[in-house]
Formats: sequence, C-alpha cells, structure tokens
Amino acid sequence: MQTEYNTLSLIGNTPMVYVGDHGNAKIWIKLEGANPSGSLKDRTVSHVILKKIQEGALAPGKTLLDASSGSHACALAYVASVIGSPCTVVVNSKLSPDNEVLLTLLGAEIIKHGSVTLESRERCLELVTQGPDKWYFFDQLTNLDAPAAHHKTAQEIFQSLDSVSAIFASKGSGVTLTGICEFISESNADTIVYGSVSINNDVGKIAGTYLEGIDYETDFIKNLSNNSIYSGDVSVTYSDAMKNCLDLVRRGIFVGPQCGGVYAAALDQIEQQGISGNVVIVAGDSFMKNMGRFSKDN
Ligand SMILES: Cc1ncc(COP(=O)(O)O)c(C=O)c1O
Repeated sequence: MQTEYNTLSLIGNTPMVYVGDHGNAKIWIKLEGANPSGSLKDRTVSHVILKKIQEGALAPGKTLLDASSGSHACALAYVASVIGSPCTVVVNSKLSPDNEVLLTLLGAEIIKHGSVTLESRERCLELVTQGPDKWYFFDQLTNLDAPAAHHKTAQEIFQSLDSVSAIFASKGSGVTLTGICEFISESNADTIVYGSVSINNDVGKIAGTYLEGIDYETDFIKNLSNNSIYSGDVSVTYSDAMKNCLDLVRRGIFVGPQCGGVYAAALDQIEQQGISGNVVIVAGDSFMKNMGRFSKDN
C-alpha cells in the first residue's frame, strides 16, 4: 500500500533463522539487524514517531532529539530523514565509528557529551530548557509509548513457530523486553523471557547490555523485575559475547556482539534450567554496524 512514509514499511518482518540444537532446545535467531538502519530501534522510533504524527503531536519542522550511544541515534536519524525532519543526537564516548559515519551521512547533528546515555540525556534536558519550541525530545529512557512497538516483534516470533518455550533478548532501556513481555502476557502464552546483562570488565561494553551502577536504571528495567513473565537476568562476559558473535558470523549469521552475549545467556539457561523446545534469541543489530569494533580489538 502506498503511504506517505512508505519506506518505513520496510521496518519489521525480520527473518528468523534456525541455528541448531542445544540439548533438547531448538535455537532460532530473530535478525533485527535486517531493519533499515540496522537495529531493532527502527521499530521503537518509527512506532512512536508515526503515533505522534497521527495524533498531531509532532509539528512539522521540529527537530527530533535524543540521547543514545548508537543504535537508537541511528534509528532516530533514519526516521527523521524519511519524514523530512531535522535531527540532533547527543551521543557519548561509546559511539562506534560505523554508527558515527551513518549518523553523519543521514544528516544528523551529533553532539558528543559524557560516557553514558544518562549524561547525554541530561544535556538533552538542558537543550529543551533553553529552547522548548525547537525540539521533539523522544526520551527513549522514559517514553511510555515505546514498548508497544515490540508487541509486533513478539507477534512475528509467535507467527513463525508453533510454540515458543523461551525468548532471550537484552536490555538497554528495557523497552524491547517490556514490549515482548506485554505481548506474552496478553496472549496467555506459556513462554518464559530472559534478558542478558554484561559483566563489567575493563575490556568494554556492548550496545544493549545494561550495567548496574554505570547505566541509568529505567522504570522499564525496574518493572521487569516484578513481571511474572520475566524470568530474570543472565550475566555474560564481554569476551564470550565477542567470541560467539564471530562464531555466528563465520557461520553466515551476521549479528553484532549483543547477540553473541544473548546467545551465551541462552546456552547457559538451556543447560541450567533444562529448557526444551523452540528458544528464540533476539539479535538487536547487524554485524555490519560493529565491524570497526572488531578491527580495533583484533
Ligand atoms: C544492539 C542493541 N540490541 C538491543 C538493545 C536493547 O534495546 P532496548 O533499549 O529496547 O532495551 C539495544 C539498545 O541499547 C541495542 O543497541
């Protein structure tokens, strides 16, 4: 169907690939890197922005603004360029070289500030205070419209398989996991959900892996711990995430280190909990957005 922002219809309906058995579990990976700007954040951003446009709550000419260390910034810049709005992203020192190139080519203004998204968010709040009429501040860490974007992510998973025993994803803001849990709860499915969290070490941090004490604990993350669908966090190391990512890429599955970490978490819980049946891993982004990280590390 022809719509005003037709290219946004390329978002979602991402492929799901079977990657093998582990014990009695069949492991599938949902390739969110197939979204146009290369991550699951395209779903979050387009869902919220289109809703705001439909509600008449996003005036033309407003500059889309948010804080992000990478994927969300690229999704915001991509959606802004499709709808013809200016975009400013306040990024931190974790921005990868690949994401910086993409942001520049999409025409976003890049402000570098701090080392975690929370610090960048504070800079956004200052900008909004200085010029309230200029901005549409998306505020991914608190945007209550965002989780509904991932009802569709979950729905696509359930449409692809007869039954789903467990879904493994990761948390940055906690929006993706919240949306998936909401969908499962509404559909009364007998599926358990886990999130992976990376253990802080001196090597580095992976996009989409919350770190206690460093990151801002969003209300989405706090509420997940009281959610009966959410079975909890599984800690993984940066080096396991990087190793698994490369192993998957060498098998032709082009996912980023986030997926390597979630994969480690899934194998761990399949063994520990004896999970059987279909297990789905949500790969947040594409390997293509993370290559700079490997050329620097290896
Ligand atoms: C690659 C990747 N995967 C997963 C996530 C987690 O997404 P959410 O912010 O919805 O928790 C993020 C966000 O930080 C990400 O960048």
